[in-house]
Order: sequence, then C-alpha cells, then structure tokens
Amino acid sequence: MANNTWETLAAYGSETGTIEIQECRNKEGKEKYRRVITYMEDNHKKKEEAGSLEEVFKSLEGQDWLLYFPLYVNPKVKKILGARLLQQPFKTHAAYETWLQYCFQEEETNIVKLAGAVAASSKTVVLTGAGMSTESNLPDFRSKAGWWQKIDPKSIAVPEAVENNYSVFADFYGERIKALESTAPHAGHFILAEWEKSSLIHSVATQNVDGLHRKAGSRNVYELHGALDKVKCHRCGTETEIDNFLQKKPCASCSGRLRPGVVLFGEFLPEDAWNGALKNIEEADLVIVIGTSLEVYPVNQLPRMTDGRTIYVNAETESEHGSFDLLVKGKAKEVLEKVEVVLRNMSFY
Ligand code: APR
Ligand code: ZN
Repeated sequence: MANNTWETLAAYGSETGTIEIQECRNKEGKEKYRRVITYMEDNHKKKEEAGSLEEVFKSLEGQDWLLYFPLYVNPKVKKILGARLLQQPFKTHAAYETWLQYCFQEEETNIVKLAGAVAASSKTVVLTGAGMSTESNLPDFRSKAGWWQKIDPKSIAVPEAVENNYSVFADFYGERIKALESTAPHAGHFILAEWEKSSLIHSVATQNVDGLHRKAGSRNVYELHGALDKVKCHRCGTETEIDNFLQKKPCASCSGRLRPGVVLFGEFLPEDAWNGALKNIEEADLVIVIGTSLEVYPVNQLPRMTDGRTIYVNAETESEHGSFDLLVKGKAKEVLEKVEVVLRNMSFY
C-alpha cells in the first residue's frame, strides 16, 4: 500500500447506508484508521478518525452484526473480525451466516456453523456410526476398508449363522472382541463426553457396538445395536463371561450356543435404547449425525424424527444426504476437534 493512501479493510451496509473501515500508513509507516459513513438518503459522507483497529471496529458490537450485511472484508482483517464475530451470542440468523462466509474460509465456515448450532441449541442428540470409530483403528462396514467388503453380512451377521455356521460366526465376533482390547476412544469420543458434562449436548445414540462412547465417559448413551462386551446364550438369554464365548463353551444353563449381545440383521433392537433415542431425538432442536452411511433400518429413520435442525458429518457427504440442514465433509475426530476449538473461542465454556 502506497504511503498516505487510504485502503479499505472492511465495508458493511444496511438500508440507511454503508460504513467503511479504512487504514492509512504515513511516511514513517505509522498506521491510522478511520470510519467513513455514507448516508443512503443524500450520499453525505461522515469521516471519524480512530487511533487503533480495535477502536475503529467498535461499531460492530452485539446486535450490530445483525443490522449490517458485510460487503467486503480485506483478508488482512478476516481473523480479527472472525474472532470478534465468535464472541457474539451465536444466532442462526441470515446476516450472521453471511458474516461467517466473509470472515472464514468455506471449510471453516461449516465448522463455525456447526459450533454455533451446538452453542445455540437447547437439546442436542448426536447419532453416530462406524465412521466415529475408524480413527480408533476399527474398520467400518461399507467403505473401501469396511468389513462387508470382505465378508457377506448375510452369511455372518444373522441369527442363522449362530445355528448353521457357528465356528465362522464365533471366529468373526471373537476377532472383533479381541480387537477391542487394543482399541481406545479417540479425542472425538472424549469431546462428546465433555460436551455432555458441560450440557452442550444431551446424549449420544450409537450404532457402534465397541463401547467407545461409554469408555470415553459419555453417560447418556443409547447403544442401538447392542455391545460386543456383553455375551449371552442364543437360546435362553443367560448372560455369561466373554471368555466363555471366546473359548466356544456352551451355555452353562442349557448347553445352548453363546453369542455377543449385538443386534444381528432381522433381530429387534434393544427396546430401552431405541425408545430412549427416539424420544430424545423427537424432542431435540438439533441432531448431529456423525460417521454413518444411514443404510440400515430402522436407525436410518431417526434423523427425520426431529423437527429440529439436522447436521450430517461424514468423510463422504453424498448428494442423498441433501435433506440435512448442513453437510460437513470431514473426519469425525478432526471435525470435532475443530468445533471444540471454535466453541472455546466463542467462550461457551
Ligand atoms: N469420519 C467420518 N466419516 C467416516 C470416517 C471418519 N473417520 N470413516 C468412515 N466414515 C464414513 C464412511 O464414509 C461411511 O459413510 O462413515 C460411514 C460408515 O458407514 P457404514 O460403514 O455403513 O457404517 P454404519 O453406517 O455405522 O453401519 C450401520 O450396519 O452392518 C451394520 O450393524 C452394523 O451398526 C452397523 C450398521
Ligand atoms: Zn442357555
């Protein structure tokens, strides 16, 4: 910027006129700032000198963010304005969302919108799938490295497999149970547990049977497809130790075959978990769906059971998820970590 020329840092407007924030550097390299207000009715300009950037942005306080629509934000001040924007009580308001677009890059905007939705909502339920656990090194089912790329689920994840294919069934679920011993929740699981503690979210409904949400400290967890760390008899339902299943021992009560307490295709979901998840999703004003292809009934019906806003966070955000209010393409752990940073920045803690 040449000396003594005024450069516009930001411009925003409303029905009554526009405000330009300008910066000028004198020969000694010292900056000075001014606000140039142009009144719509007579094009009259009013210039107010200001000593610092902080002072010159003073006009953007509180409600002002919603009165003015941004017209231009110089990349030099995106961070400063963005940080000030995050200090405001988040509103899902058109003017606000426009400011987000001007202050943040596209990918960041979605993160900030997700953070704002969490901050602004009074009851949030998070619905997770296997994509929530792949960053804990557990394969999902339907993406390239998923279980069902190698094994036909109809040959193994069905009650008939317990009766007619028990050895392969027991090996498959035994392998998945043993894998849990060297698996831990990742930062995303811990963030959701923290948000529950800080009442930023109400509960987690999960299709995952790995128990990682519980292990991370989430207390309101609806395990819709059961859990691998519970073993019972397929015939009489008597619960027993995991080791008895791993050693393929018969049920001590009726000599029936043992199996993990997970929901196999064609079986009913645990009633308490389903009813709890459904009731809270119906009452929620925000449902965040993370890391699931939403291919499996009836869980894939849950996101449409809420009148609240719905946000889909997934590594692949296909067009068929267009019914969501916001699609955030990204990996569960990474997205949750970025949202956590924004929420802390918004001083919602
Ligand atoms: N972050 C975000 N999304 C991810 C990640 C990640 N780190 N890793 C994978 N994904 C996405 C995949 O792109 C895929 O869209 O998560 C989704 C996982 O989908 P599925 O593999 O179908 O798993 P899920 O939806 O949980 O399956 C539901 O099917 O077989 C049954 O009982 C099983 O509970 C499971 C149910
Ligand atoms: Zn039994």
